[in-house]
Amino acid sequence: MATRIDRSILLTVGEVARRSGVKVSTVHFYEAQGLIESVRTSGNQRRYARDVLRRIAIVRVGQRVGIPLAAIRAAFDALPKERPIGAADWAALSASWRDEIEARIRLLEKLRDDLSGCIGCGCLSLDDCALRNQGDRVARKGPGPRHLIGGGEGA
Ligand code: FES
Repeated sequence: MATRIDRSILLTVGEVARRSGVKVSTVHFYEAQGLIESVRTSGNQRRYARDVLRRIAIVRVGQRVGIPLAAIRAAFDALPKERPIGAADWAALSASWRDEIEARIRLLEKLRDDLSGCIGCGCLSLDDCALRNQGDRVARKGPGPRHLIGGGEGA
C-alpha cells in the first residue's frame, strides 16, 4: 500500500478500534488484508495514522453492502497514495458500488422470476426450465436434442 503516514498524530490499535467501532482483532485483520497500514514505534508497537478511521469506515460500509474485501482493497490500491482518502474519493467509490448493487439486484430479480416459474412445476427440464438452461446454454452446443445426442448437460 505504501501510503505516506503523518507521524505527528498516530493512534494505538486500541484507539483505532474504539473510534471506529470495531474489535482490535478486526483492525489487525484489516491490516493483514492490506486495507490499512501501520508504522512501528521504537518499541515495536503498531501506530496508525488518523486516516485509517476513514478507511475502516469505508471497509465497513463496503462489507455491509456486500462488496468483497478484495474489491475494496483493489479500490484503495487505485487511489493516490500520497494523500488520505477524501470525500471526492468516497463519492466516486460509493457511486461505483451502487452500480454493482444495482446489477446484482437485476440479476436477483431475474433469478427470482425464473424461480417463480419452477414453483409447482417439478420438471427440472434442460429445455424448459430457465434455471437449468441458463442463457439457453444447451442451444449453444448445436441444433437438435443436445442432451440426447451429446454435447448437452455434462458435455
Ligand atoms: S422446474 Fe420446471 S420450469 Fe423449472
